[in-house]
Amino acid sequence: MHNTAIFQFKENRDKYGSLIPIEASRDIPFEIKRIYYIYDVKKDVTRGFHSHRQLHQMLICVNGSVSIRLKTNLEEDVVVLNAPNKGLYIGPMIWREMFDFSEGAVLLVCASEYYDESDYIRNFDFYSEEYSKKYN
Ligand code: TYD
Repeated sequence: MHNTAIFQFKENRDKYGSLIPIEASRDIPFEIKRIYYIYDVKKDVTRGFHSHRQLHQMLICVNGSVSIRLKTNLEEDVVVLNAPNKGLYIGPMIWREMFDFSEGAVLLVCASEYYDESDYIRNFDFYSEEYSKKYN
């Protein structure tokens, strides 16, 4: 889907365990201003239901697994994040829903800006309208 991409981070695995480094601008395509993580999500819960106008994000499920539904006016896709070395980049104007959190899942999100509620579009009809204006 446009404005999204799957990233594969390099795993340093040895007999003592595994380590994955992530460097802003080098391993992901933006400067990180904020990180947050989502955890303790019950099995039947779906979260998200929003798009951002400007924000760039990298989602990494550092433990367990979670599914991400991505939507625009034109496309719909589901990405399963089920390995700590897999990242999902989501750029501006992509609707996302997170569901199917496994027991103990931890979803780490790296974001390009500080938290700003005015960057959110939380209603799909409004999103759809803004998307049409931007891309048509
Ligand atoms: P919310 O946007 O509902 O989470 P989701 O990504 O599942 O849609 O955020 C949950 C709460 O956390 C809400 O009250 C806003 C707050 N919040 C912050 O204070 N800072 C942040 O960086 C984020 C992402 C959320």
